[in-house]
Amino acid sequence: MELTTNEQLMLNGEMGQGKQKAMEILVALGKIYGANKMIPVTSAQIAGVSYKTIGDAGLGYLKHMAALGAKVEIPSFLNPAGMDIEQWEALGIPQDFAIKQMEILDAYATMGIKMSCTCTPYLIGIKPKVGEHIAWSESSAISFANSVLGAKTNREGGPSALCAAICGVTPYYGLHLDENRVANLIVKVDAKLTNRSDFGLLGLIVGKKSNGGIPAFKTFPGARPNENDLKYLGAAMAASGSVPLYFVEKFTPEWRVSKDAEQITITQKEMDKAKKALNEVDTADIITLGCPHASISELVEISQLLEKKPVKKTLWICVAREIKIKAQEMGLAQKIEKNGGKLVADTCMVVAPLERMGYKRTAVDSGKAAVYLPTMCQQKLLFGKIEEILWK
Ligand code: F3S
Repeated sequence: MELTTNEQLMLNGEMGQGKQKAMEILVALGKIYGANKMIPVTSAQIAGVSYKTIGDAGLGYLKHMAALGAKVEIPSFLNPAGMDIEQWEALGIPQDFAIKQMEILDAYATMGIKMSCTCTPYLIGIKPKVGEHIAWSESSAISFANSVLGAKTNREGGPSALCAAICGVTPYYGLHLDENRVANLIVKVDAKLTNRSDFGLLGLIVGKKSNGGIPAFKTFPGARPNENDLKYLGAAMAASGSVPLYFVEKFTPEWRVSKDAEQITITQKEMDKAKKALNEVDTADIITLGCPHASISELVEISQLLEKKPVKKTLWICVAREIKIKAQEMGLAQKIEKNGGKLVADTCMVVAPLERMGYKRTAVDSGKAAVYLPTMCQQKLLFGKIEEILWK
């Protein structure tokens, strides 16, 4: 691999042990994937934040990197942690968990990483431009950045995104190269998509069929997707099929399709069957919205629904802290909370320890959450659009 003078200095340890360790990992990755150089990245989004997902081993690694003096070089942000940093106690997060979680956040803070814990950095002003190279590691954020924003990121793991943050570069391979950003599956949709949850359901089906490939959607009949819809679509495909990039005709900045691409059609019957299969229970202990983290426009919609009919069960709406603050300034958070909802920041229903908090049945409108809640949180699911799950 060809390294610049600066990169070579980092590798030689002349810029500190933290940078040396990080550069060693990046060079090793580059060699594995056949990169011939590094490419500068403008931001890093780092997964591996919840104590539930990284445990003591991950915490030990982060403490080690912090002790070596590793500091980030570029704007760097975190994926959701395992709890709301301000109201964890009131939400019922176990104390032993909270102590470990704070140690993880302290280690990241020591390395200079901003304490924005969200899977939707693009909703809080971190919106890379078309063609911008970044190193993000949360699967739904990767999908949104690559597909909707037209930025370029590989599917980084937490450690490789952290190393990119520390060195300011990432190996130049994979989705950083236009020649690899080519769809190999054309998807026609012969079903009605009327809400975000339908887009999530579609994502679950297509993700399974594309198996890590790149799907290209022909325009959706009768539906003009907005960013919230595409957020749900991409998150579900990433969860069910590790899809890092997709195109939507006339909507996404890129549209590159291989002439050998296979073509599939998703029918209404398939959508109905998939929805039925997800529903294991007809009532829930907790309703969770905001997967990926909710935008202000989603909060407006939820608030209007709750105004009509308040919710009686526990309702979490997961958001970035910056969105919660904005919602408070707008009076939106107060309206939601008056009608039974809780704006839960910094975390989400999947990476919080729901299973330790007495919940067994969770209602969701998100395809991605529907993939992970049964396995990571041992939850039985109630799945549907918001109006179908809020009052169950
Ligand atoms: Fe975000 Fe958690 Fe869903 S990280 S995409 S809200 S599973």
